Amino acid sequence: LENDARTRIDGAADLTALEALRVEFLGKQGSVSALLKTLGAMSPDDRQVKGPQIQGLRQAVTDALATRKDAMEAAELETRLAAETLDLSLPAPETPRGSVHPVSQVLDELAEIFADLGFSVATGPEIENDWYNFTALNMPESHPARAMHDTFYFPDAAENGGRMLLRTHTSPVQVRTMMTEGAPVRIIAPGRVYRSDSDATHTPMFHQVEGLVIDRDIHLGHLKWTLETFLKAFFEREDIVLRLRPSYFPFTEPSVEVDVGFAIENGRRVLGGSGDAPGHRWMELLGSGMVNRRVIEMCGLDPNEWQGFAFGIGVDRLAMLKYGMDDLRAFFDGDVRWLSHYGFSF
Ligand code: PHE
Repeated sequence: LENDARTRIDGAADLTALEALRVEFLGKQGSVSALLKTLGAMSPDDRQVKGPQIQGLRQAVTDALATRKDAMEAAELETRLAAETLDLSLPAPETPRGSVHPVSQVLDELAEIFADLGFSVATGPEIENDWYNFTALNMPESHPARAMHDTFYFPDAAENGGRMLLRTHTSPVQVRTMMTEGAPVRIIAPGRVYRSDSDATHTPMFHQVEGLVIDRDIHLGHLKWTLETFLKAFFEREDIVLRLRPSYFPFTEPSVEVDVGFAIENGRRVLGGSGDAPGHRWMELLGSGMVNRRVIEMCGLDPNEWQGFAFGIGVDRLAMLKYGMDDLRAFFDGDVRWLSHYGFSF
């Protein structure tokens, strides 16, 4: 029986066949089990002789089954490993990856450049009270400049007697910062602003970054140097040339509009050089000025001690110039084909 069992166990084709053999020999009805049962009916002398023999047989069959099983499992592992070889030189499958939106990218860069100049980032609410958005900025109820702002008002909503609106510029953050932090101040305030206006260069929501410096003995020269230093870093060129033009904002006095020189290269606006040079032109870039002393006063500071400059730049326009984009509306369509066209790939 032992030899027969060994032969059949060694010849078992797979784990299922092996299990069938285990049942056949060692199962409750198995042939080896049947032999063990005969021991009970034997005389003590017979049992003395046969007992160890049958036990030995059982052990031999058990061992043979275990050995065969180990061999089968090892072989199976071997085949699996052979089939699953990794080729580390194969190129990895491409996974689509998102990218940072151009506006977010510009906002990050702005914060970084101005941080190097010692500016921290301030924020204010997009749903604003008209006192912060207009009145404290020297635009009383009847002021004609209010009309130019195409304001989205909330009907019926009021706070401390003021009407509520979507802020039309980031300038209310100037007021909030001076009132809560006092002076000196050196901040930028990036964020969303809203005006009821829509065409290729205007969207009802757009982004501005406000700059505000309040200290003792600040003058227009500081403003010009700050803007020049910022624009050179942002556009990564040394030949940025600025032109300051007298202008008017109720909250700055004097007010200056800042133009930047550019040339057309391959149908694209490229900043650099003087707008007075042949083939060059000026483009309006931002509004700025020395903070009006009435604003400083309304924010609770003494204008004889504290003065400074402020500026407001269109962030989306900066992004358009930097990346050569021409339709502002496409910025907010969320069409990934537009983004990948400009190298913000997906
Ligand atoms: N708030 C102005 C605008 O939105 C820009 C500006 C900011 C002008 C700060 C002067 C000083 O048009």
